[in-house]
Amino acid sequence: MQDNVVGIDLGTTNSLIGTIVEGKIKLFGDASGGELMPSVVGMDEAGAILVGRAARNRRVLDPQGTVVSVKRRMGTEERVRVGKRELTPPQVSALILGALLDRAQAALGARPDRAIITVPAWFNDAQREATRNAGEIAGLRVERLVNEPTAAALTYQTGSEECVLVYDLGGGTFDVSILDRDQDFLEVKASRGDTQLGGDDIDRELCELVLKRIGSARENVDRDPRAMTRLVEAVERAKIALSDREEVRLFDPFLAGEGDRAVHLDLPLTRADVEQVARPLVERTLRCIDEALADAGTKPNALSRVLLVGGSSKMPIVATMVSKHLGMPVQVDAEADRAVALGASMLAGRAAGAEVAEVLVDITPHTLSVGVLDLMDLDYGAPEGEEDLAAAPVVPRDTVVPVERSRTFYTTHENQDEVRVPVVQGEGPRVGDNTWLGHLTVEGLPPSPARSPVEVVFKLDLSGVLHATAKHVPSGRAATVTFADSPYRLTAQKRGAARKEVEELRALVPQAPAPGKASESELSLARSMLQRAERALAASPDAEASIRDRVQAAMKELGEAQSAGSERTQELIDKLSDALLDMT
Ligand SMILES: Nc1ncnc2c1ncn2[C@@H]1O[C@H](COP(=O)(O)OP(=O)(O)OP(=O)(O)O)[C@@H](O)[C@H]1O
Ligand SMILES: [Mg+2]
Repeated sequence: MQDNVVGIDLGTTNSLIGTIVEGKIKLFGDASGGELMPSVVGMDEAGAILVGRAARNRRVLDPQGTVVSVKRRMGTEERVRVGKRELTPPQVSALILGALLDRAQAALGARPDRAIITVPAWFNDAQREATRNAGEIAGLRVERLVNEPTAAALTYQTGSEECVLVYDLGGGTFDVSILDRDQDFLEVKASRGDTQLGGDDIDRELCELVLKRIGSARENVDRDPRAMTRLVEAVERAKIALSDREEVRLFDPFLAGEGDRAVHLDLPLTRADVEQVARPLVERTLRCIDEALADAGTKPNALSRVLLVGGSSKMPIVATMVSKHLGMPVQVDAEADRAVALGASMLAGRAAGAEVAEVLVDITPHTLSVGVLDLMDLDYGAPEGEEDLAAAPVVPRDTVVPVERSRTFYTTHENQDEVRVPVVQGEGPRVGDNTWLGHLTVEGLPPSPARSPVEVVFKLDLSGVLHATAKHVPSGRAATVTFADSPYRLTAQKRGAARKEVEELRALVPQAPAPGKASESELSLARSMLQRAERALAASPDAEASIRDRVQAAMKELGEAQSAGSERTQELIDKLSDALLDMT
């Protein structure tokens, strides 16, 4: 048997896992066949961890103890609450990875221990390191991190030479890459993006719009986390439906409050509303496109293809605006939310020894620099603090990885016993204008004159992760080189502890419903859904007969599934929610 290497798209909203099986790309689904696993982690009443759909379903019951969009917090020191526990973002991601591995294990018969994980091209070193840590905490050897647009582009076999622009607008992040390809070579020319821009932002702003329309009653919703969660979910569902229709109805009586202070949600929401909210966000992506084109030294007319991927690209306004901006037709990928995972699976298959022709050349999207004293600055007096030091590039952005670059700098004082250089990532002229990575410190230097050379070497591996060293040249001996200040690098000991905690949590298996049966929380959700539908029917006597029929049919099906406690309950809840959106 081939080695079990898997490809993983660890998304903000949805995650997927796959590999090549018998020469074909295979994504692993859950028991009901769904390949997209919601990137949601929560805890049940008994303190067992829930991941994926079960966690998403329970979220309305425990919004504060359920984590969504943890990817947006990767690379930060924040802690997130899962049920009663506090975890780091990489630990939460490790729980998601663990659930994905369960799926792969069920399909392959063995648990994979190596993986290729995708990250937004625009992720910085801290975010990449956090992702790698998540993989290790989940017990994986992370062979390589691959940029998401690059993975998506891999799935396009054309055979001819072309220049492709891949536009990936997902749940939390936006990325654009320009790639050159020929028969068996795929080379990234430039990447741009925004790690805080995606469908989540559209949902949040749509909620704001709805709350404004509710008027003074919004106070009751604002301070009620459960009501807010129900609203966000209703709005997201409506937004998705509005990619195919012009208008839907948001209906959730007793959204918040009680008695005469109860807030009843009953409003139309139109595609024009979504577009009003989406337009400024899409405009931001257009600026990124222009910057990427400039970096690649290309003009729109040199592009042979524009590929839109990511769930949020399914909003019609995205294709319209991008196409108008570039003056050419664009293609919304039919596999928009699976393209990245398909590419990652292909690479995983190749790492495991399957035949995959293409050679992949990727780049680093951010400049990596060290902070130095610029002699010109001395005319105005020495800078006050590290923040004001000049950022001297060692590896400029858009450099092909892997790469090793060195640059020599000089000490400033006679008999300086230590060299301590800040390492930053970004395009700003000063240290303070960039993302902080840490210090590179060489200690215990022997006496030497001022202006002694210090050689700084930056090595970027295939994943775009930085390995930095500094050498004090005159002393000849290998001075102690540390990169210890990097808050992102987990020590083996810390990693061990983080992993132990995650394994303990995973060992507490939730009380699984009997095979073929619905869980308790699904059944209680079904009850409240049915009540909501009753009220919606009562409130809209004038709704079109065909729509009322559809709602009634969906209610009947769900009612039966609920009485039988059938495993189809969740699927039928979704179906009824969708039918209700039409009750305008
Ligand atoms: N038909 C649709 N119309 C509009 N938005 C959609 C549609 N389908 C999915 N979305 C949105 O797409 C987002 C999820 O997309 P996707 O699965 O590509 O994201 P992700 O890979 O999890 O996130 P990221 O790549 O940012 O980490 C969600 O915000 C969802 O609401
Ligand atoms: Mg994605």
